[in-house]
Amino acid sequence: MKIGIDKIGFATSHLYVDMAELAKARNEEPNKYLIGLGQQKMAVIPPSQDIVTMACTAAEKILTPEDKNKIGLVVFGTESGIDNSKSAAMYLVDLLGLAENLRAFEIKQACYGATAGIAMARGYLALHPDKKALVIGADIARYGLKTSGEATQGGGAVALLMASDPAILALEPKTAYYAKNVMDFWRPLGHTEALVEGKYSAQIYLDFFNQVYLDYLQQTNLSLSDFNAFIFHLPYTKMGLKALRTIISDTEPEIADNLKKQFEASREYNRNVGNLYTGSLYLSLLSLLQNSSNLTAGQRIGLFSYGSGAQGEFFTGILQDGFEDFVNNDNVSTMLAKRHRVSVTDYEHIYRQSLKNKDELIIDYKSDRAPFVLTGIKNSQRQYLHQ
Ligand code: HMG
Repeated sequence: MKIGIDKIGFATSHLYVDMAELAKARNEEPNKYLIGLGQQKMAVIPPSQDIVTMACTAAEKILTPEDKNKIGLVVFGTESGIDNSKSAAMYLVDLLGLAENLRAFEIKQACYGATAGIAMARGYLALHPDKKALVIGADIARYGLKTSGEATQGGGAVALLMASDPAILALEPKTAYYAKNVMDFWRPLGHTEALVEGKYSAQIYLDFFNQVYLDYLQQTNLSLSDFNAFIFHLPYTKMGLKALRTIISDTEPEIADNLKKQFEASREYNRNVGNLYTGSLYLSLLSLLQNSSNLTAGQRIGLFSYGSGAQGEFFTGILQDGFEDFVNNDNVSTMLAKRHRVSVTDYEHIYRQSLKNKDELIIDYKSDRAPFVLTGIKNSQRQYLHQ
């Protein structure tokens, strides 16, 4: 039985900061951010948005009433939790009006959360092929103003509808994973910003990629020429390019050129949003599907998921007949082009506002036209609105 990704939805905020302007404000060469990191624009998440609102917007874009009735599992992958006990999934189930005879919970392993959710969804769908599973990857990446990680922030949510006989990508059974206790990136309890050993984290990412990719090739006897594209977790888009370079350096030029072209298509959206942690790999998948002119049904895509701390996984999927019909109806380029640019001063102001964690709060959400907004906090309870 085929199991995989049936639909993909994406949401981010309506605000962004231009990376060339941010570079100037930080006394850096713009090309360090634009080329060195491969980032053009960075999503700025206002207080009226959080992981729940962005996840609901992403999911609402793809779910029909029939899908909602069939969902029996909701896995909410995030490392930007809004409560120490209650999972963000409960708010989402309510706001989306999902049928209540389901399992819903939150899951965490840095940027690997959504991939863990996919693994669970595969098991669930194998037992319940007539049902569907909703996997969310939603985060707000925060390192702090004027830190070296600042240029690799961002935020957003990806919603993946998983099903048997999927419309977009059927996942292949073999997968290679690797886990090791590493201090490359972490966020201690009570901290609102991540701590990171930046250069070390980039090296560990590459080590994990090479480890799981080779393991996968050994398990399957496949080789580079069996893949039409590789996509990566993209904390900044140059990171994926570095990983790709490690496997194409001594291959035939024609194969290497195709993989580089596909990579360019797959980083287009991430370059304009920034890191969204656990949703990042799947935004890159959407970017590949909507921006590549060289994809056909039956081709194999390799996916590298990485979550600091650290967990890596390499797995693959086969594009399904008619996949184009399911990926072009929500064009992310149009949505990203409609966002408002904020100045660096305004971005800093919004950033500081989002640090407030209060028992009572009224949020001015009037300029935020997203379908789901956070309007405030009352008696320590978050107040959401579907507008
Ligand atoms: P930095 O030290 O400010 O930057 O921090 P740099 O000096 O390393 O320069 C960056 C790149 O720009 C370099 O390219 C420079 O050469 C280049 P590279 O050598 O790496 O190929 N450069 C220029 N290029 C063109 N024109 C110029 C120019 N100047 C310089 N004029 C760093 C960079 C990424 C370390 C920092 O932003 C950071 O710490 N970010 C956060 C950590 C991170 O993203 N790590 C990635 C791997 S870990 C991961 O992916 C997991 C994560 O998503 C979290 C999770 O799992 O939850 C982070």
